[in-house]
Formats: sequence, C-alpha cells, structure tokens
Amino acid sequence: MRSDPLGYLVTELDALKQQGLYRTLRVLEGEQKPKTTFDHRQVVNLSSNNYLGLTTHPLLKERALEATRRLGVGSGSVRSIAGTMDIHMELERRLAVFKNTEAVVVFQSGFAANAGTVAAVLSKDDVVISDELNHASIIDGCRLSRAAIKVFPHKDAAAARRIASELPAAQRKLLITDGVFSMDGDLGALPALCDIAEEFGCIMMVDDAHASGVFGRNGRGTIDHFGVHGRVDVQVGTLSKAIGVLGGYVAGSRALIDMLCQRARPFLFSTSHPPAVAAAAIAAIDVLLEEPALIDRLWDNTRFFKAGLASLGFNTGVSESPITPVIVGDAAKASELSDRLFAEGVFAQAIGYPTVARDKARVRTIVTATHTREELQVALDAFARAGRGLGLIAA
Ligand SMILES: Cc1ncc(COP(=O)(O)O)c(C=O)c1O
Repeated sequence: MRSDPLGYLVTELDALKQQGLYRTLRVLEGEQKPKTTFDHRQVVNLSSNNYLGLTTHPLLKERALEATRRLGVGSGSVRSIAGTMDIHMELERRLAVFKNTEAVVVFQSGFAANAGTVAAVLSKDDVVISDELNHASIIDGCRLSRAAIKVFPHKDAAAARRIASELPAAQRKLLITDGVFSMDGDLGALPALCDIAEEFGCIMMVDDAHASGVFGRNGRGTIDHFGVHGRVDVQVGTLSKAIGVLGGYVAGSRALIDMLCQRARPFLFSTSHPPAVAAAAIAAIDVLLEEPALIDRLWDNTRFFKAGLASLGFNTGVSESPITPVIVGDAAKASELSDRLFAEGVFAQAIGYPTVARDKARVRTIVTATHTREELQVALDAFARAGRGLGLIAA
C-alpha cells in the first residue's frame, strides 16, 4: 500500500493544536452585520473589517444586482485578454478622481495589489526598506521581486534613514509602510518616511488597506490624513474592508499604472472581477462622498469602545484606529478569552503566531459605524467578566 506522503502534516497540525495556534473557522450564517449569527450563536460581531457597514448597504446591493442582470456574473477572462469591461474602467476612473492621482489599476484583492506591484516595479538589483510589521502581502511581493530586503524596527524612521543613507545613491530603493497596521491599529510614520524618501530618492509606497474609507476626508486614507499628497509614489488601497466589497487598487502616476498593466502578474494571469463587484465598489465611492456621517459614527463608536476597554484595565497597546487589540501574550490564553467572550455572545477573534509575534497573542476587536451603543456595552460587559475570570484585569 502507498504510504501517505503528506502524513507529516498531521503531526504538524497536532503541534499547532498543542500550542494553541490551530485556527478553527467560525461560520457566519447570514449577513456580515454588527449583530449576527456565527456557529448557531447570536453574537455582537467585533471581528469584521466592515468598518462602515457597506457589505449590506442597500445602494451597493442594488447596483450589484443591476450589474449582474445587465452584464452577467463573470468577466470571463483576465484583464489583459478579454476581461477588461467598461465597468472596470469606470471604477478605475472614479478611484483616480477620489484619490487625486493620475491613474488607478484595480486588482482582484489588496493582497494581489501589494504582492503584484512590489514584484513588478523591482528586480534583483534593487532594495526594499520595509517596516517590520508590514503586511504579509508586502513581504511576499518583496520576496517575489528578488530585491534585497532591509527591515527597520516598527515605525523607527531614524533606523529607516540609516539604512537608506548607507545604500549607494544610484541604487533603486523602495521605502514601504502600512498606513494602518492591521494587528495593532497604529499608523505608519508617513511624514517622516516621506522626508527620507525625498532625501535619498526612494520610491515611497503606502499600503492603505485599513485606512481606505476610515482615515482622511471621506475616507481617502492616510495620505490625506497626514497631508502628504504628491509625496507617495505608490498608494495601495483595498475594496475589501471599509468599502465592503472585494478587491485592491494601486493609485499613482500614469507611467506606474501603465507598467503594472504590462507587468503585474495578478493583472496578467488571473481573471478580473465580476461586474457586480465593480458596480458595488463604484456605489461605495458614492456612499463615501454622500454619507460622511457614517465615518463620523465609526469614530464615535471607536472612541466609546476604546475608552471602555481602557477603563476596565486591559492592555490595548498603541492603537490610533478602530482596530483595538486586547493584548494577552500567551496564545492559549488569548484563545480562552475569545472562547469565553463567544460563550457570552461576543465574537472577537484570537490572533496568534505567525500573524503576530509569539509572545504578543491577542484578541483583536474592530467596531463599526453600524454597532449600536447597547451592542458595544454588551461587549464591554462581556470583556469585563471574561477578563476578570482569566485574571487579565483586576477583579
Ligand atoms: C495591511 C493589509 N494590507 C493588505 C491586505 C489585503 O487586503 P485584501 O483583503 O483586500 O486582500 C490586508 C488584509 O488583511 C491588510 O490587513
């Protein structure tokens, strides 16, 4: 009988279980809403990236349905062959105006946008200067590019400057940071990094996945928030989080976008979005422009919830955004906290290695514009009971 060549995976899975690092998938039985049902239990949902509640916004749903009726369910091809539809072009035009850049190209996801772009603009003779907590898709893009990777400690602009200053002036360098760091909720050191990029002639790139729809005027992102327009060469945004749909995009110069259409592998080798996705994303831009009160509500809820967690005595790290981690340290304890919260009717996912460092396991919370104060208070009360029960906060 043939032995199982994948048998070692069972051993590795057992090891993950023993370390408290095995992820079970919670199953959502309905819409992605602030109060909804996961695994047959009604819970206050603190785990989505649906910052503005747009996954279920009536305008987005209506436009997606209209596009499906008119244009079908799929694009039928990659962008570079027969899969560029006029609705894709319209979305890119709308995003370019929104972001105030010459051009935009949309990818299948934010992951594809980051990985595809870094790999397309750099090659093996180049250098990336990268914040140590940058997203996995940036890291993968750097590896695919075969450029040398120099990592600076989180937000340490002085260290980034040292690295840039030690490289030959003629060397091509990409300086790259997340706009909002997804596990800690803090902001990249954009103004200082833009200064360094200008001093040493680096390409400046920002991944604004968690800032799109959240920071800046009408959700234009951290470039707008920090007022560094014109100083960031490559802006990545996502359509999958606050925008409520799916996709990623790169905003920048016409030459950058033209080159990504020639070289970026996800653009060339993976089918483009269904029309419904593009139509819903266009509708989301309309909502950002016409309903800015949604963003105000997101920030009101964020302030209320952060203050509640802090007054209970939890370690919530250094967040400056609606992402608030409750840092526990030990992975098994973070899972236990998440499980106890779930039993109390609150879904806040535990996050451990490799998503965060081994000793920084946490439960991550994200509030949305559509949570009610009552729902957030229910969540805070559950955190109080579970946190006391586990000795994370004083009884
Ligand atoms: C910082 C950051 N960049 C990029 C992405 C990828 O975005 P998407 O979900 O659209 O692929 C994520 C999503 O987890 C993220 O947190």
